Amino acid sequence: MRVAVIGAGVIGLSSAQCIVNRFQPRVNPLTVVIYADTFTPDTASDGAAGLWQPYVFDEEKPEEFKWNKETFDYLLGYMNSPDANKMGLFLQSGYNIFKEPVPDPSWKDIVLGFRHLTANELKLFPGFSYGWFNTALMLEGKSYLPWMMAKLKEQGVQFVEKKISSFQELAPDFDVIVNCTGIRAQELQPDPELKPARGQIIKVYAPWMKHFILSHDLRSGVYSLPYIIPGSKLVTVGGIFQLGNWSEENNPKDHNTVWENGCKLVPTLKNARIVEDWTGLRPVRSRIRLERQTFNTGPEKFEVIHNYGHGGYGLTIHWGCAMEVSNIYDRILRERKPSWKMPSRL
Ligand code: FAD
Ligand code: BEZ
Repeated sequence: MRVAVIGAGVIGLSSAQCIVNRFQPRVNPLTVVIYADTFTPDTASDGAAGLWQPYVFDEEKPEEFKWNKETFDYLLGYMNSPDANKMGLFLQSGYNIFKEPVPDPSWKDIVLGFRHLTANELKLFPGFSYGWFNTALMLEGKSYLPWMMAKLKEQGVQFVEKKISSFQELAPDFDVIVNCTGIRAQELQPDPELKPARGQIIKVYAPWMKHFILSHDLRSGVYSLPYIIPGSKLVTVGGIFQLGNWSEENNPKDHNTVWENGCKLVPTLKNARIVEDWTGLRPVRSRIRLERQTFNTGPEKFEVIHNYGHGGYGLTIHWGCAMEVSNIYDRILRERKPSWKMPSRL
């Protein structure tokens, strides 16, 4: 079987990883090639802070709840491994703060030690009257992507730097194409549901900051307001979420907004050294597109597994989605060779 993965962000690499881990020993020969025109450290997955946290109110999406949980549990399983720091993985505790009482999030039993803030803790955040504290995970793309790529190379996966213009371009050489193109999925197939949500963040040197703080004002209708997320080396200060804005340029006005709001939230930020600004596009959809599409037209029959539209939670949900990709791949294999003895589910 020949599998092409388009995209080398967290979604493409993890999809390839799951297929290889599960099928390489059984499907012989299994060829996997990853095509991308951008690799680490230049993907959106590299720029993201890397906090494990789904959207605060993630409506009724039971599948996504499951994939988020599978990802958290998978990553937590690595915490006692020497690989954890090579992966950019570590525990991180912090606050979500609100201007009014809100229902608990669906993920309160996934993270560790979820609880409500005490009156004393709330004094730390003037203007906010309600909040949560929990321990979550950080998964920094700038370490995680190279770690995954190294593993994939060891397992014989090939990487090709190339812009793909259509699925048909790959079809003659591959049986299955996994589409992990993030916000650019529309270049391969129209999808009016997919929209960019532009984000701009500032990375600063402020080693005294030890907790994440995500502020929310539900009355403003904005998904996320100022946030501060300490990473392994730098602290991410953010809060921009501009739906429909395709600009990947840093914008001085947004820089000032992020900086002023961040300093209002945590005044000691004023003493931090600004290292860089970064702008990225979240691939927003009402729900992740994770499904199979069979192409029967033309001389070749081929299958596409779409896996894109992970919004502001791609690192948070990637492994659960990758396992679902491998389940779909399993079904395709069984249809083609019903007599093959396939490995059991992951
Ligand atoms: P990308 O990382 O963008 O990768 C897409 C890949 O597809 C690239 O390799 C690209 O070259 C390739 N590609 C696309 N089209 C083609 C083509 N035609 N031919 C060849 N290659 C192609 N998520 C979290 O979970 N936690 C966070 O703390 C977090 N913080 C964020 C902060 C900001 C400011 C932003 C903008 C996002 C944040 N996110 C966060 C969201 C996260 O960055 C995304 O959900 C995730 O990176 C999406 O991964 P992806 O692999 O789909 O896309
Ligand atoms: C963001 O998309 O900006 C974001 C995602 C997860 C946690 C914090 C911020």
